[in-house]
Amino acid sequence: MFDRCGIIGFTGDCDAKDILLGGLRTLEYRGYDSAGIAFFSEGKIKTIKTVGKVDCLCDKVATEVEDATTCGIGHTRWATHGGVTDTNSHPHTFGNVTLIHNGIIENYQELANELAKEGKKPVSQTDTEIAAMVIDSEYEGEPYEAIKKACDRLDGAYGFCIMFADRPGEIYSIRNGSPLVATYAPETGAIIASDMVALISYSKDYFVLPEQKIAKLTKEGIVVTDLSGAPFEPEMLHVNWDVAAARKDGYEYFMLKEIHEQPQALMKTITPRIVDDLPDFTTDGIGDDIFAGIDRVVIVGCGTAMHAGLVGKAMIEKLAGVLTSVEIASEFRYANPILSDKTLVIAISQSGETADTLAAIRLAKEKNAKTLSVVNVKGSTIARESDYVLYTHAGPEIAVASTKAYTVQLAAMYLIAFRMAYINKTVSDEAIKGLIKCLRRVPKDVEKMLKYDAQIENISNILNKAENLFFIGRGLDYALSCEGSIKLKEISYIHSEAYAAGELKHGTISLITDNIPVIAIATQNHVYGKTISNVKEVRSRGANVILITNEGVSVDPALCDHQITLPRMDDRFAPFSAAVVLQFIAYYASVHRGLNVDQPRNLAKSVTVE
Ligand code: AGP
Repeated sequence: MFDRCGIIGFTGDCDAKDILLGGLRTLEYRGYDSAGIAFFSEGKIKTIKTVGKVDCLCDKVATEVEDATTCGIGHTRWATHGGVTDTNSHPHTFGNVTLIHNGIIENYQELANELAKEGKKPVSQTDTEIAAMVIDSEYEGEPYEAIKKACDRLDGAYGFCIMFADRPGEIYSIRNGSPLVATYAPETGAIIASDMVALISYSKDYFVLPEQKIAKLTKEGIVVTDLSGAPFEPEMLHVNWDVAAARKDGYEYFMLKEIHEQPQALMKTITPRIVDDLPDFTTDGIGDDIFAGIDRVVIVGCGTAMHAGLVGKAMIEKLAGVLTSVEIASEFRYANPILSDKTLVIAISQSGETADTLAAIRLAKEKNAKTLSVVNVKGSTIARESDYVLYTHAGPEIAVASTKAYTVQLAAMYLIAFRMAYINKTVSDEAIKGLIKCLRRVPKDVEKMLKYDAQIENISNILNKAENLFFIGRGLDYALSCEGSIKLKEISYIHSEAYAAGELKHGTISLITDNIPVIAIATQNHVYGKTISNVKEVRSRGANVILITNEGVSVDPALCDHQITLPRMDDRFAPFSAAVVLQFIAYYASVHRGLNVDQPRNLAKSVTVE
């Protein structure tokens, strides 16, 4: 089940409707099948909600609401419990309580049965309305007490913004799992949301609401307490990106903008970790003790983050000589993995909130393994719960399809491999300096790749009628194939599979028939000839081949329909350039099909429940 919602709450001196609707637009990537707001109006709570995008909600608000308001909550939803209907849209009200929710209440059926015995029935099919009913049933005029008692009864993940009908101007928030960040801007007011992108117009300073702490928002400020009411001082954080980063800036889609942001993101991620031409994590506070005495590395992550792990594994094993495995986080958590204090578990996550990856880190800690996370969102749960964190600096990634977050994850994994090799003395200092030189060049290499845009747009026409296709490659190219395949599937809805090129003949090649597109990646010199043999095999069975190679290799023109050549470089660094090609292929396949590139069906940017 997925967490697919964006939530926002505001109370202050400005028009809350503008702030809520503006915030919901920035959060729409988190859920986009219905939206709603609730606000205090003349002492009462008024709710406007509708199926459709935030634009539909804005139209409805413009025609139905005249009254000004200074306190309200807003929600953008992707349905989990209950279909896409106006009634199931948030906010939900029961009795004194009006609520928006991001997450899943797992025991909602049980709670619904208990409430039914008291003669209370919900009007929607949502778990959220059940949560509103539970809070209301515990409410006797004391919000803290009601929230505490209700949360004791709720199982699952939640981020709540709650308004009580008899407490105008006040919003209460609590979370378990689902993210919530908040800020107070004296000229505007107090604001809380699922993501910093909704806050950035008001402040660059914010705090992550810790789990099981209650934030009370009023126009005077935000007070955080624990469940017993004792004051709690949250740690203030600062973001180093600004409001422009959360806008499309003239690009048709966020994904295209984010592809173009890669040189900058890579530069910001790589440069601060190089001192005297050697990898250095001093400013990250990552001591070498985390790498010392390690006999095994386990990399965990989901989807694209896990694919970055595949590249990381190859680099760590090759350079640092440490046995490394890559585990799908959702499998790892139930597999009773063998871990010890000599195991380093590296979690990779853009959001830092992915439930399976978080559970993997918690399990690793339980089993005494050392934990290091590679995370993009500052202060996120995975970052906070790991022993150490290496932040990537991609800035906010809004498109559901991960692009810049992936290439900076690769850069982080290269840096980790280099540092481990340096400490283990498996590679000479001179050789490490050589690798660092290549890594420094990566932002420029990726910049060159952005010029391939038009060529790939053209080539991608070959995919217009495709229903199935294959990505093949060996070694690092296989890891890239996995990433190319997920990218294409998630935004173009074309079925594809990634195959280790040498494995095709063990079954899959029976699926290669006339005009099946095959995207073959052949950038790794030591297996180049082998991959080309596999290309010949699919070509002779009628495949339409797009071949990605390094510059300078001569390819028989009969072998492929299109060849894309990457600028000359050390082939260990080819994944960065190849990734851009694959991102453009997926992007244009989606654009040519007229799909919503940034908001593909059924998907969520941040998957914070199982
Ligand atoms: C990438 O394009 C995907 N949308 C998805 O696989 C994503 O990488 C995965 O859900 C992990 O997210 P995280 O990096 O935030 O943990």
